[in-house]
Amino acid sequence: MATARGPAYLLTLGRWRRGLGIALAALVPGVSQVDNKSDFLGRGPIAGTPVLVDAAQLLLLESSMPNMEKQVQALTNYLWSRHLPVEPEELQRRAVHLEKKFLWKNADSCQMEKLCGEVLHALRRTTYHWQELSYNEGLSLVYMAARLDGGFAAVSRIQARLPDFQPQTLMDFGSGTGSVTWAAHSTWGQSLQEYMCVDSSAAMLELAEKLLKGGSGSGMPYVPGVFFRQFLPVSPKVQFDVVVSAFSLSELPSKANHTDVVQTLWRKTGHFLILVENGTKAGHSLLMDARDLVLNGKEKSPLDPRPGFVFAPCPHELPCPQLTASKPLACSFSQAYHPIPFSWNKKPKEEKFSMVILARGSPEEANRWPRITQPVLKRPRHVHCHLCCPDGHMQHAVITARRHGRDLYRCARVSSWGDRLPVITPSELPPSPAQDPPES
Ligand SMILES: C[S@@+](CC[C@H](N)C(=O)[O-])C[C@H]1O[C@@H](n2cnc3c(N)ncnc32)[C@H](O)[C@@H]1O
Ligand SMILES: *[C@@H]1O[C@H](CO)[C@@H](O)[C@H](O)[C@H]1NC(C)=O
Ligand SMILES: *[C@@H]1O[C@H](CO)[C@@H](O)[C@H](O)[C@H]1NC(C)=O
Ligand SMILES: *[C@@H]1O[C@H](CO)[C@@H](O)[C@H](O)[C@H]1NC(C)=O
Repeated sequence: MATARGPAYLLTLGRWRRGLGIALAALVPGVSQVDNKSDFLGRGPIAGTPVLVDAAQLLLLESSMPNMEKQVQALTNYLWSRHLPVEPEELQRRAVHLEKKFLWKNADSCQMEKLCGEVLHALRRTTYHWQELSYNEGLSLVYMAARLDGGFAAVSRIQARLPDFQPQTLMDFGSGTGSVTWAAHSTWGQSLQEYMCVDSSAAMLELAEKLLKGGSGSGMPYVPGVFFRQFLPVSPKVQFDVVVSAFSLSELPSKANHTDVVQTLWRKTGHFLILVENGTKAGHSLLMDARDLVLNGKEKSPLDPRPGFVFAPCPHELPCPQLTASKPLACSFSQAYHPIPFSWNKKPKEEKFSMVILARGSPEEANRWPRITQPVLKRPRHVHCHLCCPDGHMQHAVITARRHGRDLYRCARVSSWGDRLPVITPSELPPSPAQDPPES
C-alpha cells in the first residue's frame, strides 16, 4: 500500500506528465459534482424485489431436496473456481511440449508407445477439465438458491447506470432464473414492454416462469410481456433496445461458441449490449475478448451499419491495461446486497462482478473520463484513486486540494469504485508503462 510509505510518496495525477511539461489534469468545466449515477440506488446494499424473494423462498420450501445448504455451498465454490475451457490448440501445444520433455528424458530407450501413454497421463493429470453444467430441475433450484440474489444485485447496479435510458424491448441470453428480467423491471419497468428470455435449459425456463408467478404454477406473472425461448433467434431483422447476458458466456463450451454468440447478440442489439461475468480473471478476459470482437467487428450487422463503442467501464478502446500488466488483474466491481433470507444466509454479502457495456453510435466526452477501478482510499487531506485512463494506462493518483484544486479534490472524495472521475486528461500522452505506479 502506498499509504504505508507516507506522504513523501504522494503521486499526483500529473507525476509523469509534469515531467513532460504537460498540465495537470483539470476538472471538466461545468462539472462540479462527480458522476454520481451509481448512487441511483443509494450506496447501501441492494435487496431483491419482495415478490421475487417470497417466490424463491416458497419454491425452496416446497422442494424436497435434501441438504440444500451443502449443495448451495458446493455449487458456489465450483462456479468461483471455474476456469475457461481449454481450447484444442492449447491442448495440442501442451502435448507437444510434454512429448519433448519425455523424449529428452527417455532419449536412450525411445519406446514410442510408452511415451504416448506418459504424455496422455500427464495431460490428464495437469489439464483443467471444463464441464458443461446441465441445468436440470434440481440444479436449477440449487442455482436459484445460490445465485439469484447476487446476480440480481450485480445486474441492478449496472442497469442503474443508465437511468435515463427508456428501452422498450430487452433480450436476455442465458436467462436462467430470470434475475435480469426482475432487475430490468425495477429499473426500466415504466418503458419496457417485451422481455425475451432465452435459455437452452427447459427446467430453468420453467423455474423462471414459476418465480414470475410468485412461486406457483398458475396465476398472472408479476412482470407482463415476458416471453421464453429455448433457442437464440438469429435473424438480424428484429433488434432489441437492450441485450443482456449475465454469467452465461462462461457456460459455453468453446471460444468458437463465445464468438458465435457475441456476434449474434451484437446483431440483435439496438442500443446497448450488457455483458456480465464473475469478477475473476477468467470472467474479465472473456468480456475483453467480446469487447474486441464487437469493436473490430468487420462482422457488420447486415441491417445495422452503426459501429460499436465501449460505453463502460473502459474509457478507451485500447488493450486492457489490467490484463496486459506483468501481474494481470481482473477489472471488477462490487455490489453489496441483502441475500434472500434462506436459513444459511445471514449477513449482507458482496457480489464481485466484471462487466462491459457496448453501445451503438459514437462515444460522448463523458465516456472518456477515467474510471475508478478500485475502492477509493480517503485519507487526511488526500485521496487515493486507481484510474483506468483514456490513454489506455492505469494510474494511481493521489489527489490533494493543494495540488489539484478544491473542486477536483472534493469530487474525488465523494467518488466510489466504479465511478468516472470527470477530469480532462491530455489525449496524446505517450505510452510509458515504465512509469506505471508500482502497485497498479
Ligand atoms: C449461470 S446461468 C445464468 C443465469 C442468469 N443469467 C443469472 O444471472 O442468474 C447460465 C444459463 O445459461 C444457460 N445456457 C447455457 N448454454 C446456453 C446456450 N447455448 N443457449 C442458451 N442458454 C444457455 C444455462 O441453461 C443457464 O441457465
Ligand atoms: C448527483 O449530483 C447532482 C449534482 O450535484 C445532484 O443534483 C443529484 O441529486 C445527485 N444525484 C444523486 C443520486 O445523488
Ligand atoms: C458450439 O459450437 C459447436 C461448433 O460450432 C456447435 O456444434 C455447438 O452446437 C455449439 N454449442 C453451443 C452450446 O452453442
Ligand atoms: C462464474 O460464475 C458463473 C455462475 O455464477 C459460472 O457459471 C461461471 O462458469 C463462472 N465463470 C467464470 C469465468 O468463473
